[in-house]
Amino acid sequence: MPATPLPQLPELAGLCSYEEASRTALSLDDCVVWLKRMHYVWKRLHQIFTSHITAEPNYELKMAFSLHAHLCAEHAQSIRTRVSEMREPPLGLDVVPHAGLQRTCDEVLCAPSTAERIHGLYAVLLPLLNESLTQYLAKTNRLADAPSVRLLRFAQLELADMLAFGEQTVVALDSANTVQGRWVSLLHNSVANAGGISGREPVTPDEQLPQYSAQPFEYDRVPKRDARFQDSFNAGVNPEAFLYDPEFSPRDKTLMMFYKRLREIDVPEMMASILVEMPQKPWGFKRDMTRQLWDEARHAMLGEVGFRQAGIDWTQIPISFIWSYNLNTQLTAQERHAVLFFIEQGLMPKTGKRYEWEVGKASGNPLAALFQDFDWADEVLHAQIGREWYVKDFGDLNGAMAYGDKCWSKVLSHWREYIENGLTEHRNWWPDIYQQACRNWGVEPDPRALAYHETYETIRADLKSISGSA
Ligand SMILES: [Fe+2]
Ligand SMILES: [Fe+2]
Repeated sequence: MPATPLPQLPELAGLCSYEEASRTALSLDDCVVWLKRMHYVWKRLHQIFTSHITAEPNYELKMAFSLHAHLCAEHAQSIRTRVSEMREPPLGLDVVPHAGLQRTCDEVLCAPSTAERIHGLYAVLLPLLNESLTQYLAKTNRLADAPSVRLLRFAQLELADMLAFGEQTVVALDSANTVQGRWVSLLHNSVANAGGISGREPVTPDEQLPQYSAQPFEYDRVPKRDARFQDSFNAGVNPEAFLYDPEFSPRDKTLMMFYKRLREIDVPEMMASILVEMPQKPWGFKRDMTRQLWDEARHAMLGEVGFRQAGIDWTQIPISFIWSYNLNTQLTAQERHAVLFFIEQGLMPKTGKRYEWEVGKASGNPLAALFQDFDWADEVLHAQIGREWYVKDFGDLNGAMAYGDKCWSKVLSHWREYIENGLTEHRNWWPDIYQQACRNWGVEPDPRALAYHETYETIRADLKSISGSA
C-alpha cells in the first residue's frame, strides 16, 4: 500500500515557499559576483578592526575590535568556501571589486579619530553590509542557492550583535553629531559610485576627493590604554613565582591567575601588529591568528570577571603593558611571532596550563576552575596554530623553538631604568588586593602570602625563569 501524502506538511523541507523557490532574478554568476563583493567588505572590516586594536586606548573598544575582527574573518571565510563551490576556480578573491568600495574602506581605515572610525564602521559600513545581505536573501532563489542563504542567515545573527554594540558606542561617542557630515557623505558616495555593495544599484558619479586616505595608512604599534590602566611599566609583583610556590594556597593563587589573565590584554595588542605588518601572509594565517587574538582578548576578560567575582576593583592593580610594548617596539613581526610560539609551546607541559587548571580546581572557586579549563583548551589550539603557521615555515620544531628562544632573549626589559626614568616605582600592589579579597572571602590573610614581595627585577624576561603572556 503506498503511503498517503500528508498535505499539511511544510513543502520543500521547510526551507522556503514555492514562490521563493521560483525566483530567477539572480543567476549563479550574479550570486558569485555579489558574494565576492560582500567578501571584500568583510575582509576589509577585518583589516580595519585589526589595525586599530593596539593603539585604541579604550578597553571596551579594544576588546570589541578583537571580537569583531574575528567575526569578520569567519564570515569572510564562509563566503570563500561557498564561492569555491560555485564553479569558480580561479577564485579571484584577492581582486578589488570596485575602486569605490575600496575608497570607502580606505577612508575608514585611515580615519584619524576614534569617533570617525567608530562612525565609519558601525554607522556606515556594517549597516550597508547588513542591508546588502538582506537584499541578497530577498532576491536569490532560496532552494537553488540554499547553501549561500544558510551562511548569510548565520552572518546576520552576528551582524545584529555587532550593530547593537555599535549603536550604543555611536551614542556614547556622540559621533552622529561630532563627525563631519561631508566625510560621511564621502563614504556613502563612494559606495554609491560602486553601485552599492552588490554592484547592482544605480551607479552615481564619483564626486569627492579622498579626505583621509590620500596618504597611506600608518599603523601605530605602540600599545595605548585608557585611564583605568595606571602605572603600565609596573613589574613590581611576580605572579608566576607565587603561583608555582607550594607554600601558598590555591585559593590565594586564584588572584594571581586572574591577574595573569587580565594582563593578557597585551597579547591582542601584540598579535595585531603581526597581522598588520605581515600583509603578504596567506588568508588562512590571518583567519587562524585572528581567532587566537580574540581568544587572548577573551582571556583578559576572564580575568576581569574573576576580580569582579572576588569583589576587587581591578583598576587598582597596575596591568602591565611591558610585554606588548617591548615586543612591538624592539622586534620585527616575524620575531614577535617566534616569541609567541615559544611562549605558547612552553605552556603545554604539566607545569603550564594543566597546573593552572589544577590550582583552580583545588581552590574551591568553581569559576576559577572553569576559566582555567577553557583557557587550557584555547592554549592547546594556539599551540596547533603556531605549528601550522610558524613551525612549517621553519621546517623543524627544534629550530623554530631555538629561534623563538633567541628572539625572546633579545627583548630588553629595563626594570631599573623604568624607575630612573620616572616611568614607575614598581609599587607592590599585592598586599592591598590580597587583604581586600580576604575580607570579601571572610577569611584571615595568610601572613606568608601577605608578605609576598617577589618582583621581576632579578628575573630576565625569559621563559626559562618566568612565564610570559598568552
Ligand atoms: Fe594563547
Ligand atoms: Fe591566553
